[in-house]
Amino acid sequence: MAAALNLAQRSAILARPNPSIACLIVRNNIVVARGVTAQGGRPHAEAMAISGAKRAGINDFGDCDFYITLEPCAHISSRGPACADLVAEAAPRRVIIALEDPDQRTAGKAIARLQQAGISVQTGIGRDLAAHHLAGYISQKTRGRPHIMLKLATSLDGQIALANGESQWITGDQARAHAHAQRARQDIIVVGGETLRHDQPRLDVRLPGLRGRSPRRAVLTRQGPVAEQYGEGWLTLSSPSQIGDISDVHHIMVEGGAGAAAAFLSANMVDEVLIYRAPIIIGKGRAALHDIGLASLADAHDQWRLVDSRMLGKDRMERYWRTA
Ligand SMILES: NC(=O)c1ccc[n+]([C@@H]2O[C@H](COP(=O)([O-])OP(=O)(O)OC[C@H]3O[C@@H](n4cnc5c(N)ncnc54)[C@H](OP(=O)(O)O)[C@@H]3O)[C@@H](O)[C@H]2O)c1
Repeated sequence: MAAALNLAQRSAILARPNPSIACLIVRNNIVVARGVTAQGGRPHAEAMAISGAKRAGINDFGDCDFYITLEPCAHISSRGPACADLVAEAAPRRVIIALEDPDQRTAGKAIARLQQAGISVQTGIGRDLAAHHLAGYISQKTRGRPHIMLKLATSLDGQIALANGESQWITGDQARAHAHAQRARQDIIVVGGETLRHDQPRLDVRLPGLRGRSPRRAVLTRQGPVAEQYGEGWLTLSSPSQIGDISDVHHIMVEGGAGAAAAFLSANMVDEVLIYRAPIIIGKGRAALHDIGLASLADAHDQWRLVDSRMLGKDRMERYWRTA
């Protein structure tokens, strides 16, 4: 399942707007075929794996196990058959599924269909990692909004700019390249109105091979549509909750500044915080956050857990997920 999850994660950007799912077909402890959601979302992983196995001359799956990172889809779409039917027809010995699909058209139905076909089904192996990888998809299905990450680049003393607004650059090349790779995973990047006016950011992905993967840009503002001078294609959000109105969006990154970050935190709409901390001290500058309405320190504790931490050149990257 770990191999299947790795495969799924590698294709996460390409599968958009669908979640990236992988399927490994294993016989006698050897992976004989594998599939992952194709570019643009179809064909699905199970169809890719089964057709790959057939091309390799495997037509009988009776002694095979299928490892699938998300419950197969149970609904027939205009873009292809239900994977639950494809897998049931292939009739493997066992199907191992990391995570049940929260999509109501499938939830539990595919598992029931496979069991009715006499196939042994095991769920839950690798569930946490699968849920982590599919956070945007799950969030959209269960909460009606995407997974939202807040990205901050700060000095040691928690400042994101000098008092005069200068913020380019706080961190070094490696941290910035990492941040660009994060951008490529997003559907939309949001900045606040002040950042738009002050920095006129491009918010694109400036990494070789990923230049075509720049997400859409949005600005949080009460001032209406964005003027032409800032470039084309800006979405405007008059409040953080408007994010929920945009369909087919799984991952959003809020890139600051302090006002936009505070607005999303106050609205309880930040699921993940990504901090790049540079070994510089700014003193009286601009703090990473404006007021978030915190009444007591007790309310601030146990809200976040560290899930990743590493050095990127001279800078420290830390990633936190909300605990509940
Ligand atoms: N180091 C970093 O990681 C980083 C990243 C980004 C920016 N920055 C720096 O941060 C500075 C700007 O930060 P800032 O705090 O002054 O401004 P900001 O967060 O970029 O923008 C604040 C603006 O966001 C809009 N806004 C805030 N809350 C809102 C809400 N609830 N509903 C609707 N709109 C809302 C308003 O826009 P309108 O005024 O348009 O209505 C508000 O004036 C710049 O110096 C920039 O260079 C640093």
